[in-house]
Amino acid sequence: MASPDINLDEERELDREFPNRMDRRAFEASLPRAAYIDETFLDLERERLWWAEWIAVGREEQLATPGDFLSVDLAGERVIVVRTRAGGLSAHYDVCRHRGSRLTSADQRTGPASCDGTPDPSGTFKGVIRCPYHSWCYELDGAVRNAPYLGEADGFEPADFGLHPVALDTWGGWIFVNASPERVTAGHTLAEQLGDIPARIARYPLADLRTARRIVYEVRANWKVIVENYNECYHCAGVHPELCRIVPAFREKGGAYLDWDNGVPQAEGTFTFTLTGTTDRAPFPGLDGHEQTRHKGELVYPNLMISLSADHVAVFTLVPKAPDRTLIVVDWLFHPDEMAKPTFDPSDAVDFWDLVNRQDWTVCEGVQDGMTSRRFGFGWYAPMEDMSLDIRRYLAERLGDDAVRVDRRHPAGPADTSGADAAGDRA
Ligand code: FES
Ligand SMILES: [Fe+2]
Repeated sequence: MASPDINLDEERELDREFPNRMDRRAFEASLPRAAYIDETFLDLERERLWWAEWIAVGREEQLATPGDFLSVDLAGERVIVVRTRAGGLSAHYDVCRHRGSRLTSADQRTGPASCDGTPDPSGTFKGVIRCPYHSWCYELDGAVRNAPYLGEADGFEPADFGLHPVALDTWGGWIFVNASPERVTAGHTLAEQLGDIPARIARYPLADLRTARRIVYEVRANWKVIVENYNECYHCAGVHPELCRIVPAFREKGGAYLDWDNGVPQAEGTFTFTLTGTTDRAPFPGLDGHEQTRHKGELVYPNLMISLSADHVAVFTLVPKAPDRTLIVVDWLFHPDEMAKPTFDPSDAVDFWDLVNRQDWTVCEGVQDGMTSRRFGFGWYAPMEDMSLDIRRYLAERLGDDAVRVDRRHPAGPADTSGADAAGDRA
């Protein structure tokens, strides 16, 4: 069988024609090796994606009172997210306008308690943001308040020295920031980026939910390996025996034909993601019949993965640290009414997900390591991995088609100089 050439226009056309495209029988080339292992590729992603798109950085509940802040890592840029005096949230580059000092320190962990367990510096500003170097002081909304011994006579115009702004918006209790506020002003809103996702899971009371547990995993894999793994269940039968016991559909036909729109049905008598598939917790109020017994999942590109059971939500927030290293902050969200019960214990959900997560991280790290081989040029998506193709198109639209094009003369890696084309090698 000849392997198909990659033609993104054709792919998009097929998408329009066959929205689910589950009946395709062709293999597709994955992203090229460089996309997973090169620092220069990550640099391109930083410019076109991590600093251009809306990125999830935490939950609103983490910053409850004025002055509470997180200093989050946005793929290498440090951004302060702070609760303002007026009760809103604002975000700024963590860079003093005087000589560029950081305004927070990397090892700062001075509160609030709701930020415990995050990988980010956090604390509470006492009224102003004071630079530790020469004590320039900024309001919580980023405006400069005063600079010692400087005034109008020195040519100091406060309006010229506010902190560099970062756009901020919220949805479902999540805080999103965009490091290119000029793009937002030009119309790239969070609502546009979220698309149909809020409507698809509108009955889940996401904004009301609270975090009962947080675990930060450090995974030695590119962030896209983790997203691709989240997007397919071809691996589930072999990697997740416990998960497939409660959701047998995950191991059937390589995880194809899963009904994510109506929810993936669970095994008879089970309705949630725990080892037994059951729990004492009540389902969220307002769910429909399907949602009370089925599992849903959404991926807000590029870095927020939301797994929804009837009684809890497991949330994965990705923070790329290097081409081969990603932090994954996993929050377990529950309804406050359940959390208020003296018998509340989230460990059935946490332990189950922790088991499944570690199984996933192990295979992701195996992929990352294998891709460094001189014999790896690019991989293949099988038909039932259809959803994984999204990331190739997602990247092509932002980084350009050239960035995702594979070198078909060297399907087995740059060291393969035999001249055989991909079809010949694979047949
Ligand atoms: S660098 Fe911040 S006040 Fe000088
Ligand atoms: Fe998995």
